[in-house]
Amino acid sequence: MTHGVTIAGTGSYVPEKIVTNDDLSKIVDTTDEWIVTRTGIKERRIAAENESSSDLATQAALKALEQSNTKAEDLELIIIATITPDTLTPSTAAYVQTNLGAHKAVAFDISAACAGFVYAMKIATNMINGGSVKNALIIGAEKLSCVTNWTDRTTCVLFGDGAGAAVLRPAEEGEGRILATDIGTDGTQTKILNIPGGGSACPTTPENIHENLATLTMSGKEVFKQAVTRMRDSANTVIERANLTPEDISLVIPHQANLRIIDAIADRLAVPNDRVFVNLHKYGNTSAAAIAIALDEANREGKIKKGENLVMVAFGAGLTWAAAAIEW
Ligand code: UT7
Repeated sequence: MTHGVTIAGTGSYVPEKIVTNDDLSKIVDTTDEWIVTRTGIKERRIAAENESSSDLATQAALKALEQSNTKAEDLELIIIATITPDTLTPSTAAYVQTNLGAHKAVAFDISAACAGFVYAMKIATNMINGGSVKNALIIGAEKLSCVTNWTDRTTCVLFGDGAGAAVLRPAEEGEGRILATDIGTDGTQTKILNIPGGGSACPTTPENIHENLATLTMSGKEVFKQAVTRMRDSANTVIERANLTPEDISLVIPHQANLRIIDAIADRLAVPNDRVFVNLHKYGNTSAAAIAIALDEANREGKIKKGENLVMVAFGAGLTWAAAAIEW
């Protein structure tokens, strides 16, 4: 008899170095007031030069393993969602497998930008439900500071570094479980949010190296509109699939990109603001890590209690979107 998939433990890690809005106003033409009013972000964490996405991921993973009482050697699956892999190949997950000593685990990365952690959750859930693995580790990890154009005020104020992780396994009777998931992609909008260079379409060359092509570019207003609609629809989809109503949701954990987007989604879902988790003032937008870090903080701060329902919903480059309804 299967009871679905439970989240057995969570963990997160952010680098020590804090960069405030005032710090950024010394390198680009911006102000704390503009950044706080337009985004809600007050500061972000920036990884050390010798700290890579796999290092951030490993720290978050160790905490999730500890909380879930899981030994690394018992892991059978590691999925890392990242757009800032340590190397283009091998996968960041391969480095993390070795760092943890999780030698039995099949390990691979997925690229679904800010929606990646929830994509990873869906893939791992399906693999566990299908019976091919038992203990799975999913991680969202990003060192966005290395793909940020630090001369562009329209983007450099938005992003930060960090990692979050969760251990998934088959639920025992009476344990919380993942009730429903939804993932989607619209590849017609690749140009509104991307890293144009550094890949096979536009490799970095001695001629273009000074054009900052391997950094994030975004049409902010267009992305904003799409984010609100897609996240509203995806959240509603999982609420419906789980046979819940908005009143049944104790906590919404949205992607942490912009407080105005978060407020718009809460409004459209008819969920009061005190049931929406926000930590972007501390970390900015950490892409695939954002929801994973938020999930861990909400868990460790006791914001989700056993038996309560939560909805996670994300949106990112691709365009990608994803949501999950979870009974805790
Ligand atoms: O993680 C994936 C999902 N990402 C998102 O969801 C992000 C979605 N987009 C956004 O969050 C917002 O569009 C931004 C925060 C990126 C921008 O906010 P906005 O209200 O859409 O501002 P805007 O781009 O329309 O810019 C308004 C003004 C412009 O000046 P003018 O043309 O009105 O004179 C910008 O040049 O603000 C200016 N501006 C800045 N001023 C001070 C843009 N960036 C800055 C800045 N400091 N950092």
